[in-house]
Amino acid sequence: MSAPKKLFIKTYGCQMNVYDSERMAEALGGQGYVETKSADDADMILLNTCHIREKAAEKVYSELGRFKGLKAEKPDLKIGVAGCVAQAEGEEIMRRQPLVDLVVGPQSYHRLPEMESKAREGQKVLDTDFPEEDKFEKLKNRPKAKRGPTAFLTVQEGCDKFCAFCVVPYTRGAEVSRPVARIIGEAQELVERGVREITLLGQNVNAYHGEGPNGADWTLAQLIWELDKIDGLERIRFTTSHPNDMMDDLIEAHGSCKKLMPYLHLPVQAGSDRILKRMNRSHTAESYIRLIERIRAARPDILISGDFIVGFPEETEEDFQATLDLIEEVKYGTAYSFKYSTRPGTPAAERAQVEAAVADERLQRLQALLSRQQREVQDSMVGREVGVLFEKAGRLPGQMVGKSDYLHAVHVADCDRAIGDLARVRIVSSGPNSLAGELI
Ligand code: SAH
Ligand code: SF4
Ligand code: F3S
Repeated sequence: MSAPKKLFIKTYGCQMNVYDSERMAEALGGQGYVETKSADDADMILLNTCHIREKAAEKVYSELGRFKGLKAEKPDLKIGVAGCVAQAEGEEIMRRQPLVDLVVGPQSYHRLPEMESKAREGQKVLDTDFPEEDKFEKLKNRPKAKRGPTAFLTVQEGCDKFCAFCVVPYTRGAEVSRPVARIIGEAQELVERGVREITLLGQNVNAYHGEGPNGADWTLAQLIWELDKIDGLERIRFTTSHPNDMMDDLIEAHGSCKKLMPYLHLPVQAGSDRILKRMNRSHTAESYIRLIERIRAARPDILISGDFIVGFPEETEEDFQATLDLIEEVKYGTAYSFKYSTRPGTPAAERAQVEAAVADERLQRLQALLSRQQREVQDSMVGREVGVLFEKAGRLPGQMVGKSDYLHAVHVADCDRAIGDLARVRIVSSGPNSLAGELI
């Protein structure tokens, strides 16, 4: 038997890319590939890329440049670009970087094995179609190897919202939801392989409307209740949600479904109604705050997470202040904040840009406020009892590390539990990036 070929995948961007990278590795497993952690001994390098901000996209080209020497040493090495830069820039990638053999968009991963064979024959291959077939269904022949306790599961892809700053509707295409039966099947298999917690993924996951077993479209809440029935699955999460799709049944599930974790990532982007309108967000600061109140009424301890963009075109100091005010009101447990990045082809790219220095300064102020809140919320866990799912051994002997229901990292000393165990833990202290607790 010949030695297996080695595949090195580097993943950028969102969790959906993480999920896709796993699927691609499995698909190429069928071609005799095993994964390696080092590019140096790879027979194939795949960069699974992100196009969301300019920096993310440019990183791909500098990374590709670094493989020049490697390719010169190993002429058989194949280099592929997948993900959202592949979708957005397609042939341009091969023009700019001739060492690339293969470019595959996010909706064509099931064609990867065939593309790999062509690349092996010396062809340059490109596929950035949006085919009708379900790529996940075609990628199903995955190995049944044991896995860690947590997993992502993509249930919905694409976006129809067209926020004025965002490339996702162009790189991932229109909103598509996978049928309930397929998701349940995949979840059951993950649980058989050792998974205890599943995070349902979608660019607009709460707009999920996949075909249910009765032929009618199901909501995300209905899907969650169906997953709730799977024995051995202990925790359910989902991300990312849009405020406009936060339906009553989903809010209600947060109050009554025990497996649904008290954590919600609900990006608002900005706190000024004028800017929200220019962003094409179709919600106001007020409607968002009322929504958070309704969610907290259903699940008072829920941890709210958000995304923010500062320096969106035409943003004034007054607009920015409205964002700070909204943050003060909501009190975020975690948040991701970004300086606006111009994306060619999106409506906002044509507008009056905020000076870089002004945007930088605003981002600093915003992040200072968000980190203060984040720390306050984390510190407020001290003295409380939380569920912890252990994911790995800690650095100290006898120590285990896991995630709380609220997604905080928790260290437990003298812990006799195994990876994949779920335990009740009392939080005893709060450090810069994690909590410490003891088994109850
Ligand atoms: N579908 C998700 C997130 C998509 S991208 C949602 O709607 O919430 C993740 C985050 O990147 C966005 O929430 C936004 O805050 C940020 N982002 C998107 N486009 C950006 C841009 N052009 N510049 C800066 N940040 C951006
Ligand atoms: Fe982008 Fe807006 Fe769609 Fe989120 S909802 S993916 S920010 S267009
Ligand atoms: Fe990036 Fe594409 Fe995800 S642009 S954030 S990898 S959907």
